[in-house]
Amino acid sequence: MEMVHVLDHPLLQHKLSILRDETTGVKDFREIVCEIATLMCYDATRNLPLQAVEVQTPVAKAVTYQLAGKKLAIVPVLRAGLGMVEGILTLIPSAKVGHIGLFRDPDTLEPVKYYCKMPTDIADRDVIILDPMLATGGSASAAISFVKEYGVKNIKLMNILAAPEGIARVRKDHPDVEIYVAAVDDQLNDHGYIVPGLGDAGDRIFGTK
Ligand code: URA
Repeated sequence: MEMVHVLDHPLLQHKLSILRDETTGVKDFREIVCEIATLMCYDATRNLPLQAVEVQTPVAKAVTYQLAGKKLAIVPVLRAGLGMVEGILTLIPSAKVGHIGLFRDPDTLEPVKYYCKMPTDIADRDVIILDPMLATGGSASAAISFVKEYGVKNIKLMNILAAPEGIARVRKDHPDVEIYVAAVDDQLNDHGYIVPGLGDAGDRIFGTK
């Protein structure tokens, strides 16, 4: 099974170009992150299982299909992942939302969890972890490990932009996790920014730059 999905739909590429542009302001940036999350959600949920149901249309009985099986939860990684939440809930309004806050320990450079609140039934749900940027992969890998600690079996990772280093790290640490990205950029720079990237996604979503 293909585990890394680069969703290069023309609409995604167009919207990503606007995000990359340094002149894009906070309002547009925030809205487009949300729209991209919606478009990516469409693809990331492509394999959800269906069950046949019978409904009475105004004309006749019809056998039709509805979602079956496990319910979904989304888990944004604070803070930039919050920008993707509404975009997913547009398509899956009944999804529950957990949150993980991570910071990088300045000495060990390892991600440390400072906040974590999950739906009580998260073990029974499929989970999509949200973070617009997959840079070194350290935070994403830690977030996946934390979600696995709750007993979640099926986890997907959704990022708007990824560096090859981040994809390699998550693939190595969590080969069972499917990764959905809109683009894979060239590399990381010495400050851990994706190049060419789009800058600091959190700052641009929340206008804190
Ligand atoms: N996080 C960001 O917001 N931007 C990057 O380029 C890398 C990590």
